[in-house]
Amino acid sequence: MTALGRPAADSGVPLNAPIVLASTYRADGNTAYGRDGNPTVAALEEALGVIEGGTCLAFSSGMSAVAAVLETLPGGAVVVAPKVCYFGVGELLADRAKVGRLDVRTVDATHTDEVVVALDGASLLWLESPTNPLLGIADLRILIDAARSQNVLVVVDNTLATPLRQQPIALGATAVVHSATKFIGGHSDLLLGVVVSGDRVFTDALEQRRSIDGGIAGPFEAYLALRGLRTLAVRLDRAEQNATVLAQRLVRHPRVTRVHYPGLPDHPGYEISKAQASGPGAILSFEIDGTGDDAEAVCNATRLIVHATSLGGVETLIERRARYPSEVAAGSPATLLRVSVGIEDVDDLWHDLEQALGQRPSEPTGA
Ligand SMILES: Cc1ncc(COP(=O)(O)O)c(C=O)c1O
Repeated sequence: MTALGRPAADSGVPLNAPIVLASTYRADGNTAYGRDGNPTVAALEEALGVIEGGTCLAFSSGMSAVAAVLETLPGGAVVVAPKVCYFGVGELLADRAKVGRLDVRTVDATHTDEVVVALDGASLLWLESPTNPLLGIADLRILIDAARSQNVLVVVDNTLATPLRQQPIALGATAVVHSATKFIGGHSDLLLGVVVSGDRVFTDALEQRRSIDGGIAGPFEAYLALRGLRTLAVRLDRAEQNATVLAQRLVRHPRVTRVHYPGLPDHPGYEISKAQASGPGAILSFEIDGTGDDAEAVCNATRLIVHATSLGGVETLIERRARYPSEVAAGSPATLLRVSVGIEDVDDLWHDLEQALGQRPSEPTGA
């Protein structure tokens, strides 16, 4: 294969890595069984490994990748993790803590000093930046340096930034995790996760976990993710431009009380984001006046923008994250709406948001 996840550049060879459907392989080759590897999965891993700067392993979902990382840790290991991060990760950590598998210290990852203090005796620092859904920015450079100087592994969930905007491995992180379900796949039609690392010992342990626990990605999903990866640069440029325009317009909307977007100069992490990422990305969130029901009404009133969970696809999605109890517990305000901005015409998106923000839930009738 070439570095781009394509078959060798010989005459007559298909341009793209084909979908190889195989649970088993003839004996005495490099791969024996489908839980250990697959040529289509390997093509995706090759391309993503080159882009992120390490060895990539693909998993059946982002959460499966996160779980595999945690499984590499010894029993009782101390994990320092953000209070505000993707709630599935928070739940997984809480779950592992409850059964005594891990000792989890939660911190505000945007407060650098608090994180540094918590590193004492830790095995792993888990970071997510920007965070989902509050778009908080952790100072990756300082935190990675602090952790590495104490031999603490650092894993960064790079899902929102994508490898095209932020490269934590180049900053010294042990590994990067992506829900490739999001921007890498880009079309809301697959589930897949990846871990990329430049640390051989860590990668070997992770690969062993994947073989034993069975979390490898399927070949069809890997094919779609690699196909999506090839257009990530243009999709992201367009979606990010759209997000910037929408964020600027939302700031001036009378019903909007706060906009969370690291591309706005008054965002608390603006300077750090500019220093560690080459762009603010395509996810924003905003709060409106009123109640949770008012915010739900906005989601239900959109016509072009789809009321749905998830992010990173070509289509714009909106969701009130506090509809999930775990998000409320993680600090998501009741009227916060997360928008995953897609690649539609930005004025069409704005007109849709404007008309949806004009709606309120129907007034209660009767006494
Ligand atoms: C930042 C982040 N990390 C991890 C995940 C989990 O990924 P998956 O849904 O592919 O399991 C998500 C899902 O929304 C996410 O937003």
